[in-house]
Amino acid sequence: MVVIRGATTIAVDEKEEIKRAVAELLEQIASCNGLNRDEFVSIVFSSTSDIHAYYPAKAAREAGFFSCSLFSAMEPDIEGGLKLCIRAMVFVEKNILPRHIYLRGAKILRRDLSSVYNVAIDGPAGSGKSTVANRLAADLNIVHLDTGAMYRACAVKVIDAGVDVEDEHAVVDILRAVKLDVEFIGGVQRTLVDGVDVSERIRQPHVSMAASTVSKHPTVRIHLAEKQREIAHKMSCVLDGRDIGTFVLPDADYKFFLTATPEVRARRRYDELVAKGHEIDFEALKEEIVRRDEQDTNRAVAPLKRADDAILIDTSEMSVEEVVSAIKSKMQERI
Ligand code: DC
Repeated sequence: MVVIRGATTIAVDEKEEIKRAVAELLEQIASCNGLNRDEFVSIVFSSTSDIHAYYPAKAAREAGFFSCSLFSAMEPDIEGGLKLCIRAMVFVEKNILPRHIYLRGAKILRRDLSSVYNVAIDGPAGSGKSTVANRLAADLNIVHLDTGAMYRACAVKVIDAGVDVEDEHAVVDILRAVKLDVEFIGGVQRTLVDGVDVSERIRQPHVSMAASTVSKHPTVRIHLAEKQREIAHKMSCVLDGRDIGTFVLPDADYKFFLTATPEVRARRRYDELVAKGHEIDFEALKEEIVRRDEQDTNRAVAPLKRADDAILIDTSEMSVEEVVSAIKSKMQERI
């Protein structure tokens, strides 16, 4: 027995629309898996709680699936979940490698099944992009590439070498000799410098400003952007940074730019660092964030900037869940 998953969305909660959507989904499942209707043993449907007009199981029967057992159930109302969605689980008596089918708005549920795509999330420090990118990537079942971690890793190496982060020549010499890698273990990024995992060290407060300074140097940017493109072209990922939508991947499939007031951004960073046990002066942190914004915005190559086609989201008054949900609905509108 093989199980094939599928899902689709309807435009309106009406009987004819449900019948059309179910027939389309089952036809696609059949044709993409080389099945005829007799090979369908059983189909279990679930539909979101905003669908009342018709039973998907009845629609399947009317679409010609006479010989298999059919069943529909209603799903709980989950906040932030997809609206007007019908899901199917198809049991077939055939030894095949199943191809799962996600149509219309439901494509977003399993974008990992379609070809490689990238989501760019740019914004200043503390705008929430890293947390949001992480959550979004988990929801989409794809990788989160934290590009800031790569600049931070370079900064750590430069600091360890006792070199001035402002000295472009010296920084570039170090960069040429260093082996910088990112790995994804269980979907979580680990950042390695010469084979040593520096994922925790790069989060130390003094590394932030050093990373911003290192990232001003054009050679550093060009080198790291190339590495980021290499990863993004190989696998679907959500990339967060400052220049993803403008410089690294100007053709990214989806682009977002997150902002928040300096006060809110500083408060978020403060809470984060204090939770990790650091002793932080709030005013000094706020001032550093503003200085870092200035440096990131005013550098000559690939500065912090919203791409013309990026969707702007002010996260000052929003929870992480709200931002992720807003991004997902914008992505869904585009599919
Ligand atoms: O996102 P973050 O705070 O971890 O980034 C640290 C610094 O790295 C940031 O101040 C500027 C630089 N950076 C960059 O220039 N371009 C990126 N795509 C990501 C980070």
